[in-house]
Amino acid sequence: MSERRYDGKVAWITGGANGFGAGVARRLAGLGATVVVSDIDSDNGAKVAAEVGGTFVRCDVTSYDENAAAVRSVIDAHSRLDIAFLNAGIATGVGIGDDFDLAGYRLAMGVNLDGVAFGMQVALSAMKDRGGEIVATASLAGLTSVPFDPIYGANKHAVVGLVRAAGSAYAAQGIHVNAICPGFADTNIVSSEAREALASIGIPLLQVDRVVDAFMAAIESGEGGQCWYIQPGRDIEPFRFRNVPGPRDDSGAPTSDHAGDVQQTLVDRGAH
Ligand SMILES: NC(=O)c1ccc[n+]([C@@H]2O[C@H](COP(=O)([O-])OP(=O)(O)OC[C@H]3O[C@@H](n4cnc5c(N)ncnc54)[C@H](O)[C@@H]3O)[C@@H](O)[C@H]2O)c1
Repeated sequence: MSERRYDGKVAWITGGANGFGAGVARRLAGLGATVVVSDIDSDNGAKVAAEVGGTFVRCDVTSYDENAAAVRSVIDAHSRLDIAFLNAGIATGVGIGDDFDLAGYRLAMGVNLDGVAFGMQVALSAMKDRGGEIVATASLAGLTSVPFDPIYGANKHAVVGLVRAAGSAYAAQGIHVNAICPGFADTNIVSSEAREALASIGIPLLQVDRVVDAFMAAIESGEGGQCWYIQPGRDIEPFRFRNVPGPRDDSGAPTSDHAGDVQQTLVDRGAH
């Protein structure tokens, strides 16, 4: 494991009051970083911040303005933002059939997708011209089909798509945007019913420390646009996506020698 130190670096963590966010706060602070914890759980957020010698800034990630205000307060206090961990998330509690509920849908998309998009937007702007590391917490549910929770699958796939695209778009500016994609882990988000069901089919829960290891691997990789999956008993590594087959003409020949570079070409030419 890397011995890299983070003295002088400033990290902002959403959903930092519990689970993975608190784990990353403890690890980064232990390696010398200054940590700003954000959450809607002010009691635990303030406790984690005090424990790691950092500060707590309340932020409901569903609000663009609150994300912007939180990052502004990081810059006001420390004059820099080096690492953003966009991690706040909830279990949806709603389905797409008779179990659909509009308010529940909006909340799930608001926390799990808007929260990451808004946090990324304000972090990118704070890191402009100096570079930085942005990590979003997606999930294995962003890489595979999750019939038990389609709305969660939708917002976590969206986070994966956002990270892959932004990762390519911002790497040249020295801003690395990555995702971590944990399997089921031992945090508050996993209900007792889910724990029993998983145990009954031999699926162990991940420990928070392994997810923190994946976060560290992501920020130390020097790359962007990667989605690091985490499964019990397996190495932590970026998920290998299959490339989309390129276009061919009527004769079946490839239309371009550069089909694999099409996205980069559009970025380079500023095409939106
Ligand atoms: N535990 C798992 O099995 C698992 C697996 C894959 C992905 N994830 C993802 O990991 C992330 C962290 O979850 P966790 O497992 O540590 O659970 P957790 O419940 O311990 O932590 C989530 C934190 O997000 C905070 N939060 C919720 N809504 C918020 C809002 N509107 N604004 C700000 N903060 C808010 C909660 O207060 C809590 O502190 C989530 O994005 C979750 O979807 C969890």
